[in-house]
Amino acid sequence: MSKDKQKQTVQTTGHAWDGDIQEFNNPLPNWWLWGFYLTVIFAVIYWVLFPAWPVGDGYTKGIANEIEYTTRDGKVVKTHWNTRALLQKDLMEARAQQQKFIEELNQSTAEEILKDPAKRAFAFSVAKVLFADNCAACHQAGGAGLAGKYPSLADDDWIWGGKYEHIEHSIREGRNGNMPGFAARLTGQQIDDLCEYVVSLSGEDKENTKVASGKALFSGEGGCVACHTSEATGNIAIGSANLTDHIWTVANINDQMSHAEKKQAIASVIQKGIARKMPAWKNRFSDTEIKMLALYVHELGGGM
Ligand code: HEC
Ligand code: HEC
Repeated sequence: MSKDKQKQTVQTTGHAWDGDIQEFNNPLPNWWLWGFYLTVIFAVIYWVLFPAWPVGDGYTKGIANEIEYTTRDGKVVKTHWNTRALLQKDLMEARAQQQKFIEELNQSTAEEILKDPAKRAFAFSVAKVLFADNCAACHQAGGAGLAGKYPSLADDDWIWGGKYEHIEHSIREGRNGNMPGFAARLTGQQIDDLCEYVVSLSGEDKENTKVASGKALFSGEGGCVACHTSEATGNIAIGSANLTDHIWTVANINDQMSHAEKKQAIASVIQKGIARKMPAWKNRFSDTEIKMLALYVHELGGGM
């Protein structure tokens, strides 16, 4: 369209800049205009329904639905619609739901919880957090344990037994792992022979001549059988470790070590003895929390 023709069809505002720059006075498009009216209508409705305008020290509260919720201390709160109250209400509802679940778990036996997928999932999710906050400091993430210090809870080797009842007892009452030191009672030679025997129990160097004399000491002068049993398999009632399973919970031993290094680690345990303590949790957790934790730990590596 030429400039002249445009001048005929469209009005200008009448101003001119720099001699010939003019401003058209086009009407607003209808879609835009209606959009604008709608936003005005929307705003007015919004002001009436919801908190909107400041008035003095307060504000207009709106006439939308009231919100009602019960606080932690059982107070019923009724208030005008606002997002803070909505959040409170959601939180309190989630809490009530959780309370309900915990109440149900409280009434259920361990087997019932394991059989019910919803209860099980809830128990594990709570226990996982409890474990991370309270147990992982010693037993490490996922119960992996710390060689020589804190037993692994993720393998199926248990000092105090791996049945649900055993684990529950370990957590509720705590455990004391005690073995006397033998440095004063046995000679270095005797301890060395005992070490040969103990290492041989895990399948290493069985032919060594010292093994036989170590074995004799184990049931004789050493008196080890009193706690570790004549098969050296340990006794879960007193938490005496199984010495035949190739799994070490106190002696700081790993597979990369040489025979001599393994013996050294075992000798150190026999000389010094052991005083390890698993704290009791019965005063810190509810029965239901202990139940959830025991189920969780049992799942990590439980069984026999
Ligand atoms: C201060 C460190 C510490 C904390 C925290 C701790 N434990 Fe222990 N736990 C131990 C020690 C040490 C033992 C080994 C006791 C022994 O020598 O017989 C142990 C043993 C156990 C056992 C028995 C293992 C077995 O092989 O029979 C279980 C189960 C257990 N802990 C679970 C837990 C749970 C669940 C928590 C958290 C609620 C927890 N522990 C927190 C130190 C700790
Ligand atoms: C009074 C009971 C008692 C006597 C006696 C005893 N032990 Fe122990 N022993 C234990 C207990 C309990 C543990 C496990 C402690 C723990 O887990 O905290 C243990 C652990 C061990 C361990 C570490 C096992 C591991 O998995 O790291 C070795 C090795 C060991 N004993 C060897 C011996 C030998 C050898 C003798 C004899 C000289 C002996 N014990 C005598 C109670 C005893």
